[in-house]
Amino acid sequence: MDDDEALIEAAAQARSHAHAPYSGFAVGAALRDRSGRVHAGANVENASLGLSICAERAAVCRAVAEGARSFDAIAIVTASEVLTPPCGACRQFLVEFAPELRVLLADLRGARAEYRLAELLAHPFRDYRPARSGG
Ligand code: THU
Repeated sequence: MDDDEALIEAAAQARSHAHAPYSGFAVGAALRDRSGRVHAGANVENASLGLSICAERAAVCRAVAEGARSFDAIAIVTASEVLTPPCGACRQFLVEFAPELRVLLADLRGARAEYRLAELLAHPFRDYRPARSGG
């Protein structure tokens, strides 16, 4: 199994632990950091629906807590009819740490697609510091 398929497998494993009783849509994500370590997450929903967190952001939080700061790839696994790229909020969350990220999409039946985060989020918000003379 190559590295990308191993990452997809880690995302599929995490997906099996998703807490998605409200949408019924389980998502798994796995980030590979620059030293090759893998950090996985699953979506976690809540009865207060707006509190739900996506699998991708769960994976980033876990990775950061485990000491990782830069990443080369994320795998995202769902079982939908079409492959599902990360939502806009997750794209913004990912670009903070990995503007060059490869985004691997997969389902459980062998469908695969690959994007660059830079193409999914063309003009990210990156720097909130005001200009020095801008007031
Ligand atoms: N979801 C993710 O985990 N990642 C995404 O990029 C989009 C959506 C989750 C959130 C919610 O638990 C379920 O999928 C349905 O939107």
